[in-house]
Amino acid sequence: MSATISLQQLSEQLDSLEAEAAAAIQAAGSAADLETLRVGLLGKKGRLSAVLGAMGRLSAEERPLVGQRANRLKEQLQELLAERLGGLKRAVLEQKLEGERLDVTAPSRYVPAGHRHPLIATVEEIVDIFSGLGYRVAEGPEVESDHYNFTALNIPPDHPARDMQDTFYLSESTLLRTHTSPVQIRHLESTPPPVRIVAPGRVFRRDAVDATHSPVFHQVEVLAIDEGLDFSHLRGTVTTFLQQFFGDLPVRFRASYFPFTEPSAEVDVQWRGRWLEVMGCGMVDPAVLEGMGLDPERWSGFAAGLGVERFCMVRHGIDDIRRLYSSDLRFLEQF
Ligand code: DAH
Repeated sequence: MSATISLQQLSEQLDSLEAEAAAAIQAAGSAADLETLRVGLLGKKGRLSAVLGAMGRLSAEERPLVGQRANRLKEQLQELLAERLGGLKRAVLEQKLEGERLDVTAPSRYVPAGHRHPLIATVEEIVDIFSGLGYRVAEGPEVESDHYNFTALNIPPDHPARDMQDTFYLSESTLLRTHTSPVQIRHLESTPPPVRIVAPGRVFRRDAVDATHSPVFHQVEVLAIDEGLDFSHLRGTVTTFLQQFFGDLPVRFRASYFPFTEPSAEVDVQWRGRWLEVMGCGMVDPAVLEGMGLDPERWSGFAAGLGVERFCMVRHGIDDIRRLYSSDLRFLEQF
């Protein structure tokens, strides 16, 4: 190898470098390949540096010519590298988009949605109707004292009415409430009249299980206390409620007896050709009002209590109360 090198030779080296580099850049298949190429071409020990290193052996007039050419080539190669890199990135992105394309016509996956239990739906429907009539929701405890469950409702110890509501005692004076009526007393204790409440809840009786009895069931209690309320208000409210719930069907009131109301009535609706008893009600007994410290000459009111299971069973044509507690999905999915 001679110590000198001609301008001609260096130009040829740059020509072939240009051609080879352009082809190699086009052929590169990944960003990593391009980086390797870049280092090999433009890096400190790359091919362009080698050519520039040889420039020292040219004459002073020739050197700038090669220098300018080499700089242009460097810029050109940088551009080609950048362009190819952009192309590769776009290709990767396009491939990804292609792979992730959504088929908006594909059938969706079935996710079964739960729904309310028919009993709870019935409670909500009843409460809803009374809310619409201006009643507020009140609640009381399921573990109740003898006082609220019986005595304050005009059912003293040894009263025969206690037999109708035999219950579970936790102690001599604590029991599982047999009805939602104690909520009347608790509410009146904390809230001066006028009062209009609807009180849903669970109640308990010592009953054997059969098609129409369950030791745990649900009631909704209604209470209105105001000045000047009389039986016509009770009748109007109960009839309006029943017709909203069941539709426009005949309603009848039968005289009955409850210790905490006077007069008392049971209410029937005519459902599919027969009379069906759906609730008890009456004018709040003056003795109950007096017990609450309310003057019966000034305040009067009415109360009603209804069994939610009965409403639910009639509405849906269910013939056995046990179905409501069996958690059988084949049954529940019908609602
Ligand atoms: N508490 C009664 C029961 O469970 C139902 C009842 C009757 C409630 C008359 C009342 C009412 O508020 O006025 O058998």
